[in-house]
Amino acid sequence: MDASRRQQYLDAMGITHYVVREAAVDEHPQTVVEPRETAAPIPVAKSPKPAAGVSAQQSAWEVLKARVASCTACELRASRTQTVFGIGNEAAQLMIVGEAPGAEEDRQGEPFVGRAGQLLNAMLHAIGLARDTVYIANILKCRPPGNRNPTAEEAAKCQPFLIQQLSLIKPKVMLAVGGVAAHNLLETDEAVGRLRNRIHYYGEDRTPLLVTYHPAYLLRRPEEKAKVWQDLQKLYGMLHGD
Ligand code: URA
Repeated sequence: MDASRRQQYLDAMGITHYVVREAAVDEHPQTVVEPRETAAPIPVAKSPKPAAGVSAQQSAWEVLKARVASCTACELRASRTQTVFGIGNEAAQLMIVGEAPGAEEDRQGEPFVGRAGQLLNAMLHAIGLARDTVYIANILKCRPPGNRNPTAEEAAKCQPFLIQQLSLIKPKVMLAVGGVAAHNLLETDEAVGRLRNRIHYYGEDRTPLLVTYHPAYLLRRPEEKAKVWQDLQKLYGMLHGD
């Protein structure tokens, strides 16, 4: 990447000091995680036959969206304003997974629309990706009251929805932002600092998955942006076939 382009990207992320290092090397073994069998799989057979002119793929999305919108599987049904399904390109190369909707997302029905979302958009911009070219979803589709962390039970009940989204999108790479997303997807409690900078694999298709810090964490700890920039460069390389 040439220097002026790099500077443009760093500006987009708000990084003021950056030291060029050697390309990051995977020093850690790769991990493969199969999603737990938790809640019952979503029954595909009961889906209505696609109407004429509607592809099976479109129909599967519609069925899934309707199931999420009417979900009453956990207590969060009572406190949510609405469900937050996910947004973006349904054929995206990159699927980003966050934690759960916050207050603004609960109000607007779209993930990552608050301050953390603006920084996420800048992070994407930093590697030349517009928000609408990727797919963005969360571990939970409903806001936990007071922005508390999702419980294990809530995450387990919601997981089949994320797995279905993944199987429809079939992205080339997944990016887990923050500990909650990484821990739930990878079934570990290792710190993000140890999970980043290595390639994990998720699900039946063994989709390559990277972990980086959550943009909300970066808003509190901007000095960590340089590490995220390294992660984004690795992501860029994976998306472009390195
Ligand atoms: N944080 C998340 O993890 N997801 C959102 O949608 C918003 C903030």
